[in-house]
Amino acid sequence: MKKLEEYVRSIPDFPQEGIIFRDVTSVLEDADGMHLAIDTMQDLVKDLEFDVVVGAESRGFIFGAPIAYNLHKPFALIRKKGKLPCETVSQEYSLEYGTAVIEMHKTSIKPGQKVLIVDDLIATGGTTQAMISLVERLGGEVAGVLVLIELAGLKGREAIAGYRLDSAIVYEGK
Ligand code: PRP
Ligand code: MG
Repeated sequence: MKKLEEYVRSIPDFPQEGIIFRDVTSVLEDADGMHLAIDTMQDLVKDLEFDVVVGAESRGFIFGAPIAYNLHKPFALIRKKGKLPCETVSQEYSLEYGTAVIEMHKTSIKPGQKVLIVDDLIATGGTTQAMISLVERLGGEVAGVLVLIELAGLKGREAIAGYRLDSAIVYEGK
């Protein structure tokens, strides 16, 4: 049986020289790869108690929604600015060049709910920090963060120190 890592395609020098891009499309385009990814991620949090799964547009949706479905939990969306129709909270965060804003409906989380944050990947941790901030501003409690891939060289784990982070695959570099 193929290992989970073997489904991830690595593309050198994308989007710029010196960066190895870890591509999840190759995981998703293989039925066994996708099952293995979701099952492995879910297994990592089997001891964790939470009420809601939260995922960020766009790649966070792909992994968050099936996990919420399997575990019969609600799935709450974090979207890029301007996409959500009702009242929102917004959070700015840093990208390599400039900043971005993500938003969440104010009603997505009820105060006191325990939240599992899911994304495809943690790199610098900037996106995850912004997601944590949105959840906490709505009164939610972050039970943990779950990702398919952690790029350890970019120190996302340190950026969210104090929060539990589970990663299915860890790459030492950037
Ligand atoms: C990517 C990835 C993570 C984030 C990780 O999302 O899906 O959400 O970057 O990077 P960080 O830890 O340095 O913040 P991106 O913003 O490229 O958008 P996408 O999910 O819509 O592809
Ligand atoms: Mg993303």
